[in-house]
Amino acid sequence: MTATTNPPVAGPELDDIQGLIVRGYTHPCSVHMLFKFNAGSTGKPPVAGAISGFFKELMPYLQNAADWGALKPEMMLNIGLTAGGIAIVRPDLNVQQSAFSASFKGGPWDVNHAQLSLFDSGESAPTEWWNKKFANEDVHCVVHAYAMNPGAQNKIVAIITAAAAGSKGMVTELKPLISETGRLEQYPLIPSDYIHFRYRDSIDEPALKPDPTSTDQQDLSNFLIGYSTAPSPIPGPQSGPEAVFARNGCYNAFRILYQDTQLFYDFLEEQAKLIAPQIGKPPGFAAEWLAAKMCGRWRNGSPLTLSPDEPKQETAHSTVFGYKKDDDMKGLKCPFSAHTRVANPRDEGVDVPGATGDPKLDIPHVIRRGMAYGAPLSVDPKADRGLIGLFLCGDLSLQFETLYAWMNLNNFSAVFDPAEDTPQDPLVANRFKPSRQDTIDHTFTIPMENGKNIVVKDAQGVLPQFVVTRGTAYFLLPSVSSLKGIAEGGI
Ligand code: HEM
Repeated sequence: MTATTNPPVAGPELDDIQGLIVRGYTHPCSVHMLFKFNAGSTGKPPVAGAISGFFKELMPYLQNAADWGALKPEMMLNIGLTAGGIAIVRPDLNVQQSAFSASFKGGPWDVNHAQLSLFDSGESAPTEWWNKKFANEDVHCVVHAYAMNPGAQNKIVAIITAAAAGSKGMVTELKPLISETGRLEQYPLIPSDYIHFRYRDSIDEPALKPDPTSTDQQDLSNFLIGYSTAPSPIPGPQSGPEAVFARNGCYNAFRILYQDTQLFYDFLEEQAKLIAPQIGKPPGFAAEWLAAKMCGRWRNGSPLTLSPDEPKQETAHSTVFGYKKDDDMKGLKCPFSAHTRVANPRDEGVDVPGATGDPKLDIPHVIRRGMAYGAPLSVDPKADRGLIGLFLCGDLSLQFETLYAWMNLNNFSAVFDPAEDTPQDPLVANRFKPSRQDTIDHTFTIPMENGKNIVVKDAQGVLPQFVVTRGTAYFLLPSVSSLKGIAEGGI
């Protein structure tokens, strides 16, 4: 009998992949600049070479995923393109007829695709996005600029601005905020891994193991286009010239989420007065307890499942736990609807068509690269503030939108009783009006040991809208070689 060997598994081509995809940068400064490409009626820019010239100027600062050695680059950038942007810089690809996914082509405002999961309505409706300073379709490109200090940030922003200025009006910057610069700038909150609402963030991220033959949803091949051999999701497009263009890329659901911090703090304080006697603790502790129950982690990061009674320093960064494994299938430690339990139900069990019973296969993941914008309440009560959310995925629909749908409607697991109204993520969900099929429970239930569950709601009998969508764009973070191709492409 002759011995057979498996063909060698190709590793990711790190020098062709944008760095943002495989590593969280932790640079203290970042600016996320949006651009429109001005195409003529033929879809091509009237000034040939002007848009390519913009890309050419940025290429020296484009950061790939290869090791940068001992010193972090002082300034660097990554680039994303929407379907509309690709159609202009690569007119040969015929994006709308191509194998790019319907969600990517339709954009996050599309009522037939993305909005069936995102449910942005009222103040969050796509018609309200970007403070109405430009149309959703105008967003063609994002440049994520990172810097080690404010001086370097000014330098890289000046380089990017000059590159746009050199394009003879073919590349114009879009400034979404009503602030001095109008730009989406990271605010240096202290400690740096905290976000508004005063929670520690970026604790649990997909493991991103590079094995394309493995089926774990957390593997890099489920995020990177051109590698997956697993059943689902398979990041695409997988055929045609679009597959060549997109290989080594990854999608970025870029979502600007305003956080009504005053509303959130007032809510915690008001509810704490009611909850304190029920849990036999002072109101100050009850406010922290409620904040933890809504998130699934105490504000310092301790998961409720491991530290149910109080935050613990030793569990502040813990990621290894399960709801079944750690005896929390009644939600007595972490409520079923808590943000992190919904965003990653772990071993709780997923009850959706096609579920296998294996959490590694059933639970979609996103890579989170978000950061806070806007000054905290204590510094400027009137500031606009929230999250610059970068949710990276290989399949916008199967990963990002599925998780959003779960947050908006907690109907994906047997722990939720289908006979009852459907609850929502208390922190992040859109409190949209139900359609005829959905009956939504707009309150938040905290299961209690004594059977007297605590039902949290405001004076109107519902959970307030703490988070408002200010804008969303779906970008492809193309490979380094595809971006270089655009820079050399004469467009
Ligand atoms: C302003 C809005 C949001 C806030 C304040 C927020 C807050 C948090 C916090 C404090 C954590 C715990 C830290 C950690 O586990 O890393 C967390 C985890 C997480 N969030 Fe969010 N989040 C927001 C929006 C979103 C959105 C839009 C998504 C997805 C589409 C999302 C997905 C997740 C995931 C997947 C986790 C990790 C859960 C786990 O593995 O246990 N979050 N979030």
